[in-house]
Amino acid sequence: MCGIIGYTGSQRSVPILIDGLRTLEYRGYDSAGIAVRQGDGISIVKAKGRLDRLASLLDSRADLTGGCGIGHTRWATHGEPSDRNSHPHATERLALVHNGIIENYAELEEMLRLQGYTFDSETDTERAAKLVDLYYRETSDPVKAIFKAAALIRGSYAFGVIYADIPNKIYAMRRDSPLIVAQSKDGGLIASDIPAILRHTHSYYRLQEGVVAELNGECVKFYDSNLHSIDQPAEQVDWDVEQAQKGGYPHFMLKEIFEEPDSLRKTIAPRIVDGLPHFGVEQLDGDFFARFEGIHIIACGTAMHAGIIGKSIIEKLARVPVNVEIASEFRYRDPILRKNDLVILISQSGETADTLAALRHAKAQGIYTLAIVNVIGSSVAREADSVIYTWAGPEIAVASTKAYSVQLSILYLFALRLALLEGTMTEDEVRAVCARMLEEIPAAVEKAIAMSDRVRDIARAYMNAEHLFYIGRNVDYDLCVEGSLKLKEISYIHSEAYASGELKHGTISLITDGVPVIALTTISHVCEKTISGIREVISRGARVLSICSESLADKYQIPYSDQLIVPEVDELLSPFPTVTLLQLFAYHVSALKGYDVDKPRNLAKSVTVE
Ligand code: F6R
Repeated sequence: MCGIIGYTGSQRSVPILIDGLRTLEYRGYDSAGIAVRQGDGISIVKAKGRLDRLASLLDSRADLTGGCGIGHTRWATHGEPSDRNSHPHATERLALVHNGIIENYAELEEMLRLQGYTFDSETDTERAAKLVDLYYRETSDPVKAIFKAAALIRGSYAFGVIYADIPNKIYAMRRDSPLIVAQSKDGGLIASDIPAILRHTHSYYRLQEGVVAELNGECVKFYDSNLHSIDQPAEQVDWDVEQAQKGGYPHFMLKEIFEEPDSLRKTIAPRIVDGLPHFGVEQLDGDFFARFEGIHIIACGTAMHAGIIGKSIIEKLARVPVNVEIASEFRYRDPILRKNDLVILISQSGETADTLAALRHAKAQGIYTLAIVNVIGSSVAREADSVIYTWAGPEIAVASTKAYSVQLSILYLFALRLALLEGTMTEDEVRAVCARMLEEIPAAVEKAIAMSDRVRDIARAYMNAEHLFYIGRNVDYDLCVEGSLKLKEISYIHSEAYASGELKHGTISLITDGVPVIALTTISHVCEKTISGIREVISRGARVLSICSESLADKYQIPYSDQLIVPEVDELLSPFPTVTLLQLFAYHVSALKGYDVDKPRNLAKSVTVE
């Protein structure tokens, strides 16, 4: 996900572009850049890093007075974040910004090289810019050039283009990536999202696919592929900037939970090739990992909780021992690492200081490291021997949600890959689970999301609790640990997660009349045991919210005061919809209490200090 802005009109474009990019920074923030029509050509300023870095470079560029320009804030997909890979990408004839993924960029590069083009960056976008350039050279028609290029591109895109020899005009086109177009009283705008235009106008056009928009500062024209001018209906916004940036959701956390099905599809689908797990990482796809005797998963917080589930699944499917550790402990504990061990680091940000230190500690001892990271080009990703990226897109809310779900999905695929290598599962068995992951996980998570209102109604009954307990067994207990963290960090309710068999060893003394207990029951072979635990707390007066799978609720009498049925999914995959319900519960408790859900007290999104 990246952010695009463009402005052409009577004002200086630079401050308008920067202002627009600020509202789009949630779409990506690893680098940013602008291109401005200036004199007879185009001037470009771009830089790796947050938008502030670009803004400070532009402070000393009072010479950039042009009223027509395009800008971009990037979330890397092809090529790490760097000045070179930042957008806009340009030729002597044009500059182009892009949001999306061009699947056949390698093919296009080959074709362009035959035409004499060379390349400076690793981005798919540079290939697109040069493709448009090729057809502009050939046709001298800015609209036709874009149509001809688009006809050869496979994948998704939203493009903004300015030409060196066409003053004051911006061209735009899109497929499967968002782009809006607007005309204000002092100029025309293109943008990836509504917040970027709200300072200028509340009226906009949602650019249709297969149409090129031409903005000249005074009006917007739309052309179909026959180059005929066509009409598009204008729409009105009645949101404020902040609401619009969240896509209409009251908080980023809710938006990000709602994005889980999409993030899961994007992460899982490319990793299943010919029905089997495939990571696009040479070592991982060969039998390299068969030589590992033990696995250590090291991470912090929610990422570490994903690791706990990873341990259960890897040990269950591949029968390889896994040790999960908190990074801040691992780094100072002098852990036993054997030559043939593998250290897996999990991190959304890839910048967590303790995780990075643990990675360096393992590497210093010659241990092979594999990172599972969301932010491309982040420190953990750069320093690990191999990296698998999760494709959750930027996560803004401090409480991690969609990043956890996609981390789980990678760990499942990794476990399946290992099970094949270890011979603990047949190819057919692995294929069957892969097919279910693709079909059932996003669908079940969608159904869990559809239960959001019901979860909110139940949350009302628990929001005033002072203490709360989560109980479960096996993988349900692993999920309790994450559910409990989610609740305490954003609702400030003290909560504890217990393996339900542990209750009688102490905790049960805390259960008195009305104490809330959330009981997870989705694992059949321990179901009856969990039910005994539920009965124990109920007989001490607990109010129990049962979160259980439909099949187990049908088969057993699971006692409860309130109940949420987890959308039906193969039992192995039950953590996915279950955690979505736990995230929604924590979210609604915090929102009902009126707290700042996205920025809970004392917490930061990326913990880059010890
Ligand atoms: C909790 C949360 C934190 C992070 C932890 C690690 O909701 O977000 O516990 O999971 O700080 O962060 P990353 O994954 O960026 O290394």
